Amino acid sequence: MNRYSSLDAMAFKGNLTLPKIPESNMALSVLGMFLGLLLEVSTHGPSSVPRSSWRHDDVDLLEFWEPDVFNYTTLLLSEERGVLYVGAREVVYELNMSNVSIKSKQLLWKVPESDVSMCILKGKSKETDCRNYIRVLQVLDEDTLYVCGTHAFQPLCDYLSLQDFCLQDRAEDGRGKCSFDPAQSFTSVMVDGELYSGTAYNFLGSEPIISRSSLSQSLLRTEYSTSWLNEPSFVFADVIREGQDSPEGDDDKIYYFFTEVSVEYEFFGKLLIPRIARVCKGDLGGQRTLQKKWTSFMKAKLVCSMPELNFVFNVVHDVFILKAPHWRDTVIYGVFTSQWGNVGLSAVCAYNMSSVHEVFSKGKYMQKVTVEQSHTKWVRFNGITPSPRPGACISSLNRRQNITSSLQLPDKTLQFVKDHPLLEDPVLPIGNGPRLVTKDVNYTQIAVQRVQALDGSIHHVIFTGTDKGLLHKSLVLEGEVHTVEEIQLLKNPEPIKTLLLSSQVARFLYAGSDSGVVQSPTAFCEKYPSCVDCVLARDPYCAWDPRSASCLNIFQHDADPRKLIQSLKGDAGICPTAAPLVVSDYQQVLVKPGASADLPCPVRSNLAQVLWKLNGRVLTEASRFLLLSENGLLIYSVTPEDTGRYECWSVEASGGQNFTRLVMGYMLRLELPESVTSVSTLRPSSTASTLPPQEGNTSNGSGLTPTQTDVSSLTTPPSNAIKPKPYIPPEVSNLPTRTETLDPSAKYIQHDNSVTLLSLFLLFFLLFLAAMAYNCYMQYLPAPCLRLRSALLGSSKKPQPEYAACEAGLMEPAQEKTDLANQNGAHPLRTLRDTGYETEPECGNGGVPSGCDDSPSKDQPFDVDCASQPIEFADADV
Ligand SMILES: *[C@@H]1O[C@H](CO)[C@@H](O)[C@H](O)[C@H]1NC(C)=O
Ligand SMILES: *[C@@H]1O[C@H](CO)[C@@H](O)[C@H](O)[C@H]1NC(C)=O
Ligand SMILES: *[C@@H]1O[C@H](CO)[C@@H](O)[C@H](O)[C@H]1NC(C)=O
Ligand SMILES: *[C@@H]1O[C@H](CO)[C@@H](O)[C@H](O)[C@H]1NC(C)=O
Ligand SMILES: *[C@@H]1O[C@H](CO)[C@@H](O)[C@H](O)[C@H]1NC(C)=O
Repeated sequence: MNRYSSLDAMAFKGNLTLPKIPESNMALSVLGMFLGLLLEVSTHGPSSVPRSSWRHDDVDLLEFWEPDVFNYTTLLLSEERGVLYVGAREVVYELNMSNVSIKSKQLLWKVPESDVSMCILKGKSKETDCRNYIRVLQVLDEDTLYVCGTHAFQPLCDYLSLQDFCLQDRAEDGRGKCSFDPAQSFTSVMVDGELYSGTAYNFLGSEPIISRSSLSQSLLRTEYSTSWLNEPSFVFADVIREGQDSPEGDDDKIYYFFTEVSVEYEFFGKLLIPRIARVCKGDLGGQRTLQKKWTSFMKAKLVCSMPELNFVFNVVHDVFILKAPHWRDTVIYGVFTSQWGNVGLSAVCAYNMSSVHEVFSKGKYMQKVTVEQSHTKWVRFNGITPSPRPGACISSLNRRQNITSSLQLPDKTLQFVKDHPLLEDPVLPIGNGPRLVTKDVNYTQIAVQRVQALDGSIHHVIFTGTDKGLLHKSLVLEGEVHTVEEIQLLKNPEPIKTLLLSSQVARFLYAGSDSGVVQSPTAFCEKYPSCVDCVLARDPYCAWDPRSASCLNIFQHDADPRKLIQSLKGDAGICPTAAPLVVSDYQQVLVKPGASADLPCPVRSNLAQVLWKLNGRVLTEASRFLLLSENGLLIYSVTPEDTGRYECWSVEASGGQNFTRLVMGYMLRLELPESVTSVSTLRPSSTASTLPPQEGNTSNGSGLTPTQTDVSSLTTPPSNAIKPKPYIPPEVSNLPTRTETLDPSAKYIQHDNSVTLLSLFLLFFLLFLAAMAYNCYMQYLPAPCLRLRSALLGSSKKPQPEYAACEAGLMEPAQEKTDLANQNGAHPLRTLRDTGYETEPECGNGGVPSGCDDSPSKDQPFDVDCASQPIEFADADV
């Protein structure tokens, strides 16, 4: 408690008339709530466990890689030609789209010795940096690709003839089109023959740029200013054809997605913010102001948070734009994590294109103001914006006013654009929260496909790639996230760097990584051996065909849809009743007395519970039994009492029902001492313990005769009760040497992790308090000081959703003022829970109490009186 009081004292250092420090237990309870939140996020946050897990060897994947070639990270699909172009390090390949392991053409593009020596002279590494990493691969026209490479830190572009697959030797300077540094973030898109890039313009990589380059015009680019771009990590860019059939004569727009260091929030470190920015296709730059610069550059904050838990995902890693015939129906999907990676959560948020358009066409601007001579803050601009609206594309209305291009825009508008690139209104996700949240993975890539199920319903199937080479396939069913499957796409646990879907539904998915390219089907229907399995998978691509008794991909077979069985609710009751397994079919197992036996049970659903029965009784308590990780049962030292009928049942909840199935049956008998053992399932326990897990054979129709035995690590002590099978992702099971991860508790946040998490967050919390104290002391943060104080005083008010406090500070000054005056309005949860991101807004763009700033003297930085002063907002341009 002492520590807490001293922190309080620190926080309010100065001549502040401190309200009496509240009861110690109050402070503790606030701390408790803060810690509680972390537990809540780590244990109760929404999450989804994949129903099926396929290891690399379980499924038919096609791969391409060549020796000594790495970084297969630039992919371009040309469905008309039926090929996949791959840009790797110093090579461009043309692969067969239907089978990427077939290479049709290749082009070597190396760096000449002289350029390599220059690069080495500048201090770069010969083996890695001073190579040519192909980063731009775009279709220019039917016969030509536009290709750029880092070219030993001297980016170079050229034209690639598709006829002979050769460069045309029309090399162009790649500055502003391609990055110098292969490790730096980069994005590009070709729109109507013009290349739009997000990259760095200089050797050091310190000058970020969003640019357009074309044959006819000089490079159009962003202003070099931290308010335009502040250490951005570019993620994605694409065009939205907003100009098509636009009644207002609007223009097409190119949207950029990136994470950058925030300018608008004050924070003790670098606070990252995900952004969406856009430029107009028809932009030509300004005449005098903003010459050869964008006159239409605007950016807004992209919000992905769980408002109910006050948890913010502030780093965007990839974006996929799910286009629709009309741009308004387009949906933008992004994958996010938190800047503080140790939280171990990844989220997918979806954004409505209509609301994006709304933010950019109507949103309020932010304004930089200088307070106390040197210190700057970003606040809402409340003045009168010049006309035409700054940053808007040229419309019919402008043309009627004789403004036919950006060159004719008035200087007043252009100067405003230059100074106000940031919008205050954020782009909020559909449903105000993530589509899905997954624990303990780092998603790196996303691709989304619109799929029509047999009942006509349309589903957005979300494919997410992780930094460990896994692919998750999820969709939202009945308001809940269902992760159909997890596929180990890459043999080694390395990041998926590019994810691409063929546009034809249910064809293929391509993944690029540093070590190769992988082609995967979008569904694995044939892996489901029975109707119940096929239906419980709830995969919109799959349906059961009773005639062929197989699970089919409905997009690849022309079976009569009316005869197929599919229920995305997971109602397996609609399946024809299968002939039950009869006792005479049970597999006979002969065991010597005292030997051990293991009985495999190939249940491939991670959502199913497995029950073992002996002679009809559920096995709950027996030290001689051990449930193996793949649901098999191991019986130590078999005695005559152990003989009998063993049955493995799976119970899976789906669509509000429990589906119970008999999966395997065994008759265990004792063998006469003389006879020779011939049953494969017999195994002394001493050897079993060292074997890695093996896959049970599930692809045969009956699933009754496993060809391999399931034996897994026996490190778990014999348990008294038979527990449901732990979920073990394939990458873990595949690496038996990493014994520490074989412990299932390592995979999903459990007790141990929580402790680490808690201590880390406690550390953050203390740092935060210290920074707050410092800032208070330096008079930077009057509002938060008050809030913290009021927080400690306690309040019964409900916590507001993310950013609400700061936005309230801007929009409802009267309310805010009252709250402060009452010392009651601050939200203790908000103030103390926050990791900074959520709290700082109130400092950054929250009310600058200008009435207060002037009145108190330097040694009286803040006073209760202050709060009752009217709070005004900096409106510099009024
Ligand atoms: C290229 O691939 C190699 C080998 O996997 C990897 O070590 C390196 O980091 C990659 N470089 C870039 C710029 O991605
Ligand atoms: C997007 O917003 C528009 C207008 O608010 C609405 O009509 C449309 O249904 C929304 N689309 C989605 C996918 O939420
Ligand atoms: C636009 O230009 C035309 C011809 O230059 C002129 O006649 C007209 O008055 C102008 N209109 C406006 C609104 O300035
Ligand atoms: C996710 O990435 C962060 C930072 O790179 C790393 O510390 C963390 O271990 C990763 N988590 C998982 C589950 O891979
Ligand atoms: C399904 O089984 C679980 C326990 O295994 C039970 O809690 C639940 O109530 C059951 N649901 C239905 C619909 O029977």
